[in-house]
Amino acid sequence: MQEFINKVALVTGAGSGIGRTTSLGFASLGAKVVVADINLSAADDTVKTIESGGGQATAMQVDVSSLPAVKDMVAQTVAVYGSLDMAFNNAGITGEVSSIADCTEENWDNVINVNLKGVWLCLKYELLQMLKQGGGAIVNMASAAGLVGIRDRLPGYAPSKHGVVGLTKTAALEYAQQGIRIDAVCPGEIDTPMQGNYLRESPELLAKALESEPIGRFGQPEEVANAVIWLCSGQASFVTGHALAVDGGYVAQ
Ligand code: NAI
Repeated sequence: MQEFINKVALVTGAGSGIGRTTSLGFASLGAKVVVADINLSAADDTVKTIESGGGQATAMQVDVSSLPAVKDMVAQTVAVYGSLDMAFNNAGITGEVSSIADCTEENWDNVINVNLKGVWLCLKYELLQMLKQGGGAIVNMASAAGLVGIRDRLPGYAPSKHGVVGLTKTAALEYAQQGIRIDAVCPGEIDTPMQGNYLRESPELLAKALESEPIGRFGQPEEVANAVIWLCSGQASFVTGHALAVDGGYVAQ
């Protein structure tokens, strides 16, 4: 894919898991990557890995639930690299395990603020920049839990991810004629630190999670990164407003 050479890609939650792997993927195709994460040392680590492979990247600290921080992230991206061509709004959290009835207001607000408000804030400032440039491609991180309900006792998680799918479709319609494509990816169980932390708490949940995947295994971060990169490429030029399941058949059940 020659088309990514010298293009600018912004990835949030890029210090770990799917965001880190997607950043490495963009960089390996010649893009300059802004590696944004609330955890700056994790972002620095991703940048070091990219640079050691000969790629270009810059680390930025951001809390995606903070409007001034997100505004600054996009401004800094343009200040450092001159444009913003592709964005992957990936940062997310599961929140605390509880029933819906026992969920605290703090737990609910945290999850919605990071997973849904965070994607909206990123979209808002990315769109303003892409409108100035006359185009771009954006992928939002939803989840299979953005397409169906889940039984994982994560009260805010599926609601926040369903919100991301609705936001993606609405934004895609609004900007379809302005050269900006906006899609979502909806992964199933992917083998990342997030999943590890959550499942380490319970062997029963781990067994259930594996059983829930028709393909019989967890997905790898690369398998999601490949979908994100394809959605950002010219090969997906007629694709917008789509919520792409990358889930080993999870939502086909
Ligand atoms: P991860 O925990 O490995 O990585 C998430 C990254 O986001 C971390 O580096 C963390 O520091 C960062 N982050 C957290 N809160 C942030 C904030 N407020 N601002 C900026 N950065 C923040 O997780 P993973 O698995 O790579 O997840 C990435 C995304 O994929 C999340 O949105 C998650 O909900 C979604 N997802 C993950 C699935 C999985 O099975 N791992 C399945 C479906 C969706």
